[in-house]
Amino acid sequence: MDYRTISLDETSARDLSEAGLRYALVDAADADALDGWIRADFRGFHDRQPSAEVLEGARENFAARRNTAVYDDAGPSREPVGTVNAWPAPLTVPGGARVDAWAISSVTVAPTHRRRGVARALLGGELRTAHALGLPLAILTVSESVIYGRWGFGPATWSTAWSVDTKRVRWIGGETPGRLSFAEADEYGEIGAKVLDRVMAGRHGEIGLEPYLAKRLIGPLKADPEADKVRLVRYDSDSGDPEGFVSYVLKGDDDFTRHTVEVRHLAAATPAAHRALWRFLLELDLVATVKIWTRGIDEPVQALVNDIRGARVTDLEDHLWVRVLDVPAAVQARTYERDGSVVLDVADDLGFASGRFRLTVRGGQAEVAPTDDAPDVTLPVNALGSVYLGHDIARNLALAGRIQGDVDALDRLFRTAVPPRLSTWF
Ligand SMILES: CC(C)(COP(=O)(O)OP(=O)(O)OC[C@H]1O[C@@H](n2cnc3c(N)ncnc32)[C@H](O)[C@@H]1OP(=O)(O)O)[C@@H](O)C(=O)NCCC(=O)NCCS
Repeated sequence: MDYRTISLDETSARDLSEAGLRYALVDAADADALDGWIRADFRGFHDRQPSAEVLEGARENFAARRNTAVYDDAGPSREPVGTVNAWPAPLTVPGGARVDAWAISSVTVAPTHRRRGVARALLGGELRTAHALGLPLAILTVSESVIYGRWGFGPATWSTAWSVDTKRVRWIGGETPGRLSFAEADEYGEIGAKVLDRVMAGRHGEIGLEPYLAKRLIGPLKADPEADKVRLVRYDSDSGDPEGFVSYVLKGDDDFTRHTVEVRHLAAATPAAHRALWRFLLELDLVATVKIWTRGIDEPVQALVNDIRGARVTDLEDHLWVRVLDVPAAVQARTYERDGSVVLDVADDLGFASGRFRLTVRGGQAEVAPTDDAPDVTLPVNALGSVYLGHDIARNLALAGRIQGDVDALDRLFRTAVPPRLSTWF
């Protein structure tokens, strides 16, 4: 089934119609309609007016998604007042399985039509669509952390940003065999996409990337204002296997010896690639600062340098938000590091995931079945989303009164030794 053309959710269509608005799928073959949708999306995120070249690139990129719009036909503008798109993205879960999750993006409502329930209709529509498609999870990355809890999403991975004073720190990360070389994004694109896929498959919390999302990490997209400044360095092992890359921009300073490197993306499929790429960044001449964003909470840079305080975390924030739609399917898709059994009582205002389930883990594999047994743990669906990928958060949610019962049993089962990570935005 082509998920791009499945019919629109009737509840949302009715709710929007009652508000005088029209809910519609955007036909990717209709360039005018898609351009209007893209302009509304850019405007919604306070981005610039897209040029013809940007629109052309964006049309190509968004054609693979299910793009939905809300129109105000009574008003003078033909452009959407609401946008959203979605597609099934393979989410890596603990144990390494890749589960199709409904990835939701481009949620915007025109400021002229804010707080009238348009986003509520759009989100409800996406969740009901994903549920009808049989997808166990919906996921998104967010502009603000106060929006999506009401629709049952919980923060499930955290990301870090770093600033490293490279005049202060010295490399103590050991030998770095392998080969580093500059690359052109066009030539490296296919290899880079394979490296990214290895990285994304190798850590729970990461998603398999559409060509557009991969391209954005490897090299600048068309009409990127910094396109001519982006440098790309690839890492290949001694035996010639492509295992990583870093793309970055250099920013000047009055003092020519003190440039700043802003890392656009660092992808390392192996520890050797991770070490070598960090060493490359830290030892660049004429550079005083390396800045990097959207790393995991276990980014190893402090272990690689002699002066831990020369590598500072400048930001720590929630990143991937997870919404469980089907408890048995979601919980059985991942593996567990300890065996045990727990009865979960899940509350879900939207009804998709509510119920009482016994989760029994043997040999790391879970079996889940509805039960009438007394619950060990009572929690709302967004708390289940927050613990689902293994992040260390159950005890804090219990401390704050958002999980009740035997939180240690829940924590022992769900937490993973390696924390989940998502190293990109979508
Ligand atoms: C966020 C956004 C999509 C909300 O759209 P909207 O149509 O105004 O939202 P709704 O009227 O449907 O609001 C639904 C509920 O969410 C709440 N809400 C919506 N946006 C919120 C925000 N930014 N902060 C806090 N609460 C918010 C509303 O108060 C309402 O709460 P209620 O159910 O308790 O009444 C819109 O403000 C927007 O486009 N923002 C800029 C782009 C952006 O940040 N998008 C999100 C990308 S991840």
